[in-house]
Amino acid sequence: MKSRILSILILGLIFSISGFAQSQDKIPEVEALLEKMTLEEKIGQLNLLTPGGGVATGAVVSKNVEDKIKAGKVGGLFGVSGPEKIRIAQEYAVNDTRLGIPLLIGSDVIHGYRTTFPIPLGLSSSWDMDLIQKTASIAAKEATADGINWNFSPMVDIARDPRWGRIAEGAGEDPFLGSAVARAMVKGYQGEDLTNPATMIATVKHFALYGAAEAGRDYNTVDMSRVKMFNEYLPPYKAAIDAGAGSVMSSFNDINGIPATGNKWLLTDLLRDRWGFEGFVVSDYTSLNEMIAHGMGDLQAVSALALNAGLDMDMVGEGFLSTLKKSVEEGKVSEEDITVAARRVLEAKYKLGLFEDPYLYLDENRPESDILTEAHREVARKAAARSFVLLKKEGSILPLKKNAKIGLIGPLANNKNNMLGTWAPTGDPQLSVPILQGLKNVAPNAEITYAKGANITDDAELAEKINVFGPRAEIDKKSPEVLLKEALQTANNAEIIVAVVGEATEMSGEAASRTDITIPESQKKLIRELLKTGKPVVLVLMSGRPLVISEEMEMPLSILQVWHPGVEAGNAVADVLFGDYNPSGKLTATWPRSVGQIPIYYAEKNTGRPEPASGEFEKFKSNYLDSPNSPLLPFGYGLSYTEFEYSDAKASSNTLNENGEITISATVTNTGEFDGEEVVQLYLHDKVRSITPPVKELKGFKKILLKKGESKTVDFKISVEDLKFYNANLEYVFEPGEFEFFIAGSSVHPFTGTFTVEE
Ligand code: BGC
Repeated sequence: MKSRILSILILGLIFSISGFAQSQDKIPEVEALLEKMTLEEKIGQLNLLTPGGGVATGAVVSKNVEDKIKAGKVGGLFGVSGPEKIRIAQEYAVNDTRLGIPLLIGSDVIHGYRTTFPIPLGLSSSWDMDLIQKTASIAAKEATADGINWNFSPMVDIARDPRWGRIAEGAGEDPFLGSAVARAMVKGYQGEDLTNPATMIATVKHFALYGAAEAGRDYNTVDMSRVKMFNEYLPPYKAAIDAGAGSVMSSFNDINGIPATGNKWLLTDLLRDRWGFEGFVVSDYTSLNEMIAHGMGDLQAVSALALNAGLDMDMVGEGFLSTLKKSVEEGKVSEEDITVAARRVLEAKYKLGLFEDPYLYLDENRPESDILTEAHREVARKAAARSFVLLKKEGSILPLKKNAKIGLIGPLANNKNNMLGTWAPTGDPQLSVPILQGLKNVAPNAEITYAKGANITDDAELAEKINVFGPRAEIDKKSPEVLLKEALQTANNAEIIVAVVGEATEMSGEAASRTDITIPESQKKLIRELLKTGKPVVLVLMSGRPLVISEEMEMPLSILQVWHPGVEAGNAVADVLFGDYNPSGKLTATWPRSVGQIPIYYAEKNTGRPEPASGEFEKFKSNYLDSPNSPLLPFGYGLSYTEFEYSDAKASSNTLNENGEITISATVTNTGEFDGEEVVQLYLHDKVRSITPPVKELKGFKKILLKKGESKTVDFKISVEDLKFYNANLEYVFEPGEFEFFIAGSSVHPFTGTFTVEE
């Protein structure tokens, strides 16, 4: 026993230092177990089921789960929660199977467990990595208190197409920022030591390139050059793996002709051989079976394809369970490869401490003390306020006075059902603070009257599609005309109008792609009518994606983008509207002028015939007849109640060599009337290199607090490591030459200096 504890300690030490990616040694306990296992038992470990009851994201829900667990045909479950329920399942596995191997218990804990934080796209807009890590560690604490030990998050897919509803689930368009967020989330979920029952295994998803689905249509094809993948889309997955993420989920999409779930280049050559990943790979929900529809053969063929490609665990589809034995007999897969996959699943269980104690995560007292605590709600409130992006300031009505006479109007103004955002299956909308309540909490002396004003949409067919997981966009019994009339009465009696409008929760997320990403017409009409009252209007805009708000940006009103803010929605919105927190969020995905500009992102390549600097159309240039190339709102953009001025940008030296480092710095001054935080961003441009460079790339950011009138110098250290890219041979290299830089509060700014990297 002593030596066992010692070996666990040593392994724990190795693990905590190196994470999954580098742990090379075989685990004696796992090897001993594998020795005893039959082929069927090994295949059983590769089977992941969901008994239903949670949010099923495919048409299939597993049947006879209890019998299958007892027969040793299940390696893990998801979609079950609560220590009591999970204990029953775990006891079947431990007591009723020959070898008593415990189950992995998975879940989609995407932006908080019970304490729902803002949607991930919102969280990323905080640019605050400590805060993001904190939200992930709270999510882990709550989920593990409820019996979960394996999380299907972080989703790190780079997304440059806001038609794609799942842009809501990630950190936006940029690989540098996306990698930082990926690391923070893995660290938050997994902590220092996975056997700590407040931590869980993180799953990097969706591997890979899922965010590049053609036409923004979910599950769609991806065809992309390797150079583009390596430089622009793969870095966040790699960052998460380097941070020690224990598992990877293969994506639904096809990549250059082979679906990710059966793609050997992806799952073995890249992930294992090149990146050294040592954890296990799980499919997405029935993505293995879906390879039949992709045209890759029947269930036996696609199961063999997936196993041979390097997939270890089959989610829900039972293709492995029902065909692998036959494929071994027919020589289509080897038992050795099945052993390798089973080893990876068992190692994960070992690292979680489940062999030592299968009930480690099943402490019945924890839910009460660890879930949705006041302290967690405080973090949710803080995170939400920091995720908001002030898109437009009109006059100086913001922040609002706490004794103002406010007409609070809009279908999202007093609405609990849409505060949590997409993929919050473990949250409870009824626990969320609606905006009306939040305003009253923060400004009890304000005079607030409320009117709904409009439906989220008047389109009954669309409403029905949005209401799949419960009422999100119900059409009011009152007619649109009556709703509007009531709103105008409310508006006319107020000094200031706060209009809370935008997308319902299920207008973004999985299988929620849109070809028209404007605010629904019912609400646009409401905004136009409110403006006609002549009262100052503040739009509080909710969405799970960048929207096309070209019309609203032209209107004389202020716009605060609040995404779907989570369980503390109302309190956080009130904190910002009344100035207890000065907004500091910056966009992490470009907002287009029109859908016709998509895909649009700041780190584009130049053409040989760039658009003229004036933005005016010129024949035989790369421009549109009917629109400028520039976006409506660029990456990195976001205003504050105060103003920041940048000056004195410089590099500590004009030259940089292979072993050296330079410091690029600028002075930032708060010249406005309020204290505030600013996300200071460094962009570089590699002027000449062997593959065409992007016009600029984010290479550093820091979020700083500046008191009114205060100045600070912000430094970024740059070495050649930061200048590396994948060349045409996919070698990770830097190339000598001249680089331009600027430091600013957004991605749009002229370059202000240069340095040269020496041979
Ligand atoms: C989603 C995954 C999720 C899985 C399990 C799928 O439809 O693509 O992100 O983890 O369902 O719920």
